[in-house]
Amino acid sequence: MIRSVVKGIGAVTPERVVKNAELEGVVETTDEWIVQRTGIRQRYIAGEHETTVSLGTKAAQAALENAGLTIDDIDLIILATSTPNHTFPASAVEIQHALGMKHGFAFDMQAVCSGFVYAVTTADMYIKSGMAKRVIVIGAETFSRLLDWKDRTTCVLFGDGAGAIIMEAAEGNGLTSDRGVLTANLRSDGSHQEKLYVDGGPSTTGTVGHLRMEGREVFKHAVGMITDVIEASFATTGLSADDIDWFVPHQANKRIIDASAKKLNIAEHKVVITVDQHGNTSAASVPLALATAVKDGRIKQGDLILLEAMGGGFTWGAVLLRW
Ligand code: UT7
Repeated sequence: MIRSVVKGIGAVTPERVVKNAELEGVVETTDEWIVQRTGIRQRYIAGEHETTVSLGTKAAQAALENAGLTIDDIDLIILATSTPNHTFPASAVEIQHALGMKHGFAFDMQAVCSGFVYAVTTADMYIKSGMAKRVIVIGAETFSRLLDWKDRTTCVLFGDGAGAIIMEAAEGNGLTSDRGVLTANLRSDGSHQEKLYVDGGPSTTGTVGHLRMEGREVFKHAVGMITDVIEASFATTGLSADDIDWFVPHQANKRIIDASAKKLNIAEHKVVITVDQHGNTSAASVPLALATAVKDGRIKQGDLILLEAMGGGFTWGAVLLRW
């Protein structure tokens, strides 16, 4: 059977680092509160000339280089983002142009923090159907531009960045020892919209709007939803928490990650944490965490990797793949 195998990875953060202490001068907060409640110590914030397209393009270029491929080898670009450069065209098409790609096609995927998990799953479908042989999957965000910098309950939590992987069709034998995506589970439920949303948009206010979140409410649902899709992934494959080499979760809050890992019986030393460095970068968070663990040598070819994310919508999902 056809499997979608990861051939390369790249990531990029904006130049400017903002430590928690700097935010003490912006809103009434403390480094201590942010670290204790979230695990975040710093985040990167895009400068005037850094955008979702510029960050996404750099991450894609790094992934191509890492895979030893050129843009001519790519059939499709999927960009997971909720912070596109423009309402339209899709930022994926702008990235396609920036990469010098004149063939194939590109589109954006909007599932907020679950965007990268949704995009990997979608790329897997295009590859398995034979419509694409090689896909660049990017998660890129400039959430700093959606934040209300007077709202301490949200502005300290998010950051900007981008990560990308190259997925390629390969022949597998249908067993869980195959490299590539082994299973994916996606869910959404629009009844939770008011708990995490942006209060603007082209068809309503005609403005970009600001992110609004009832953090405690999101937190209450997060662990149950995350563990639900992961247990579904275990049930489909017959794999268990013991088989996982690396758990690479969405990086929103260290307390949510710890509680999810504990509920699933995933050992602490297998959990990749980057929320301390990046804050919550929405769709960029999982590929940024993946890239960190590949670069520092933790993730190696053949490792079993569990990805998950949960966010606005609500949307949530998990992907089990062998690196
Ligand atoms: O990626 C999408 C998914 N998003 C998430 O997963 C986020 C989920 N939620 C969370 O991570 C947490 O709920 C937060 C980090 C947002 C908040 O942590 P919490 O432990 O749930 O705190 P809380 O909202 O219950 O607030 C506790 C107190 C409140 O004061 P009172 O009412 O107890 O007097 C807040 O006003 O902390 C106060 N507070 C702050 N204090 C200092 C809220 N934000 C801040 C702040 N600095 N930045």
